[in-house]
Amino acid sequence: MEPSAAPAATLLEEHARRSPVTWRVGDLDVELRTKVGVRGHPGVDGALSALGEALRRGRARPPTVSGGALRALDLTGAPGAMPSWAAAAGVEADWTVALSSAAALAAARQVLDAVRGTAATLTAALPWEVSGPFDWIVWRPPADRGVRRVRVELAAVAAALAPGGAALLLQHKDEGAQRCEREAAGVFAEVETVERSSGWRVSELRGPLPGPPVDPWVAFEAPDDTGVVRAIVGAFAAEKVDPGTAVLLRALADRRAAMAGEGPAAPRVLDLGCGTGLLARAALAAGAREVVAVDDDLAAVRSASAQLGGDPRAVVLHADLLRPVDPARAPLLGAGSCDEVWCNPPFHVGRQVVGALSRAFVAAAHQALRPGGVAWFVVNRALPYERELAAWGAHADVTPEGERAFTVWRAVRGR
Ligand SMILES: C[S@@+](CC[C@H](N)C(=O)[O-])C[C@H]1O[C@@H](n2cnc3c(N)ncnc32)[C@H](O)[C@@H]1O
Repeated sequence: MEPSAAPAATLLEEHARRSPVTWRVGDLDVELRTKVGVRGHPGVDGALSALGEALRRGRARPPTVSGGALRALDLTGAPGAMPSWAAAAGVEADWTVALSSAAALAAARQVLDAVRGTAATLTAALPWEVSGPFDWIVWRPPADRGVRRVRVELAAVAAALAPGGAALLLQHKDEGAQRCEREAAGVFAEVETVERSSGWRVSELRGPLPGPPVDPWVAFEAPDDTGVVRAIVGAFAAEKVDPGTAVLLRALADRRAAMAGEGPAAPRVLDLGCGTGLLARAALAAGAREVVAVDDDLAAVRSASAQLGGDPRAVVLHADLLRPVDPARAPLLGAGSCDEVWCNPPFHVGRQVVGALSRAFVAAAHQALRPGGVAWFVVNRALPYERELAAWGAHADVTPEGERAFTVWRAVRGR
C-alpha cells in the first residue's frame, strides 16, 4: 500500500488558506480573498473581470438616487467584491452582501474588515431570503445549479428591486447567458446587454414586472425506506437521490439494522457534506444517539433542516469543513469526538474536479472520529483514496455486490 501523500493536518491547512487576489477595475486595484471552494479560485471569477470592464467604461454604473444612500445588494458570490469596489471607486452605498457558501462568507468577512469608507452588512442568505428594496443589485446566477434555480433567483431579484432601480446580470455564454437574458425579458420591462468580453455578458435589467414568487422547494421520493426528501432547488441532488448516496445506503443496510438494538450505546454520527440530509436522516431513523449534518452550501443546510428539523438529536450546521469549525457550534465536530462518519465527499468545485477536496474530507473525518471510530465513504471508483486511507488504523472495501461505478470504504481510526 502506498504511504499517505500528505498528513491530514497539512492537507486541511492547505485548503483552509485564504489567498489575496486583486480584481483590476481600470486603474483600481480591488483587494479580495479567495480559497478552495470560492468561485474563480485561485484567481478572480471571470464574471468579475467582465463587470470590471463594464464599470471601467461606464457601461455599467449604479443608478442615481435622490435622498439617502444607494441601497445595493451584492449577489456576485465573490467575497465582499462590490463593497470593496465601491470603497475604492468612491461610490457611496449601503451594501448588503448575501452569500450562500460558508467559505465565501468567512472570506468576505476578512475582506470587509479591511475595507474603509463603505457600509456593508454581510449575511448568510439565499437571494429570496434578503428583504429589499434595493436600488442596485449585482447578480451572478449560479450556473452550475440548473435552470430552475436560476429562475427562482431571477424572480427574487425582480422582487427585491426598487422601482427605478437596476440589476446587473453577469453570466458566460456557455452557462446559458442568452437563455437567462430571454427569461429575464419575461420578468423585467428592459433587458440590455451592456458588455461582452471573452464570452462573458453583463446585462442591465430594469423595470421589474409584477409576478408571483417562484417556489424554491422541490421534493422526491427517497430510495429504500427513507421517505420523501424536500430540498431547495440547486442544492446537491435536490431533485433525485445521488447514485453514490444510494450505494452507500445499501452498503450501510446491515449497520443500520444493527444500530436499532444498540439503545444508549448507539453511535453519534457525523454527516460531512450533508446535502439534503438524506444520510443524516437515515442515521436518525436507524437510532443514532446524536447526528450532526454539516454543509458549506446554505441551500443544502436549509434542505437538511427540512429533513431533520424537529428531531432533538439532530444539529444542522452551515460551515466550511476545510476550516477549523468552532467545536462550541457542534461538539461532535471537535477532534476525536464522534463515533461514526457517513459521507459522500464532494470532488467538484463548480464544474471542476478537485480531487484534493475529497481527500481533505477524508482528513476531516479522521480528525473528528474518536480512536476506534468508523467512517463510511462512498467514492467514485475512478478516484484514488487508498493513499489517504493507508494512514488509518484499518480500512476495507465494503462495496455492495455488483456495484461498478462507486466504491464504499469502511475505515477505522487507529488508537
Ligand atoms: C457529493 S455531495 C453529498 C451530499 C449528500 N451527503 C448526499 O449524499 O446527497 C457533497 C456535499 O459537500 C458539500 N461541500 C462541498 N465543499 C464543502 C466544504 N468545504 N465544507 C462543507 N461542505 C462542503 C457540498 O455542498 C455538497 O452538498
